[in-house]
Amino acid sequence: AVNPQLDQLARPMRDLRISVTDRCNFRCTYCMPKEIFGDDYAFMPKEQLLSFEEITRAAKVYASLGIRKIRLTGGEPLLRRGLPELIRMLAAIPGIDDIGLTTNGLLLGGQAESLYHAGLRRVNVSLDALDPERFGRINGRGIQPSVIIASMERSRSIGIEVRVNMVVQKGLNDQEIVPMAALFKKLGITLCFIEFMDVGNDNGWRMQQVMTKRDIFERLGGDAELMPVSPRYPGEVPKRYRYRDGDCEVCFISSVSEAFCSSCTRVRLSSDGKMYSCLFASKGFDLRSLLRSGASDELLLAAIRGVWEKREDRYSEERTEQRAMSRKKIGMSYIGG
Ligand code: GTP
Ligand code: 5AD
Ligand code: SF4
Ligand code: SF4
Repeated sequence: AVNPQLDQLARPMRDLRISVTDRCNFRCTYCMPKEIFGDDYAFMPKEQLLSFEEITRAAKVYASLGIRKIRLTGGEPLLRRGLPELIRMLAAIPGIDDIGLTTNGLLLGGQAESLYHAGLRRVNVSLDALDPERFGRINGRGIQPSVIIASMERSRSIGIEVRVNMVVQKGLNDQEIVPMAALFKKLGITLCFIEFMDVGNDNGWRMQQVMTKRDIFERLGGDAELMPVSPRYPGEVPKRYRYRDGDCEVCFISSVSEAFCSSCTRVRLSSDGKMYSCLFASKGFDLRSLLRSGASDELLLAAIRGVWEKREDRYSEERTEQRAMSRKKIGMSYIGG
């Protein structure tokens, strides 16, 4: 029986997002723009990355503080060698009952089978457009949507549940909302529309570029087409809806227009072993040093508990355009969303 640690706003710790690499094979304009992440960009040297043993040890301590769900992210997590082995190790931790992966999908088709055998049952695959020219431009590498869709279908046929993540930016890909919805409704795959956020310091975010949940909902035909579905558990981040004429769902992550900080149960671990209590934090807590200093599990637990106990983050509820532009934040590709 776990007695979950509450933070300053009485929020328990439930989900752990683990970034396994800061590298990515895409250069999405809003996340790793080529001008900043060029050929000479200094990614993390290997020895700074947590090993699978270190990640698993930290995850066990988190599980004893109330973590039930783990999501693996990057950069692009499938670039980390041997990832299925890590999934196997994490799936064996008592108390962890759900492991998910967020990926751009490029390497997913080839790895789906071994990921499934390791215990992975859910993936979120990013896809921002169906028009090949537009998608190629957004991902910065000319990758075609057909490759990503084939990866999704392959995963599904094996038994992995797929959700699509689409970050919507006004004027960049909002004309793709309707075609994306039509395609994924036909395929029976849940499409999740994500409000464009001011993550990191490099993505040139402005409030006027945000298509809100409401804007997108109206574009899809509104109440006449969609009806709300109750959350599967309290504090579920995506707001879910079902098409009135079928059982396919769409969902919305509205962290700009309807912030959900008051129920935020997420903690993040970067690939170099820093713990962050918010996606918009500017500073993390160095767990790696502790892990590598021979600290006991009790000491690790006390340190993590101490960070959570003091936590009062609620950035999305306090966001203004002014604050968004002036605050120093960690990068999206570094922390994985
Ligand atoms: P689950 O772990 O299954 O709930 O999936 P998820 O939707 O939270 O994960 P995913 O990695 O697919 O993230 C989708 C979007 O939600 C990304 O844009 C994330 O940055 C964003 N997101 C996830 N958690 C938070 C959060 O706690 N705060 C904010 N502001 N955004 C979040
Ligand atoms: N705002 C919202 N979502 C973002 N993602 C990356 N950058 C942003 C942003 N600025 C999404 C990715 C991926 C998930 C982890 O976060 O597309 O689906
Ligand atoms: Fe794009 Fe995700 Fe890679 Fe960022 S981490 S560049 S959003 S694929
Ligand atoms: Fe949680 Fe920070 Fe996101 Fe708010 S902005 S929901 S506190 S991670």
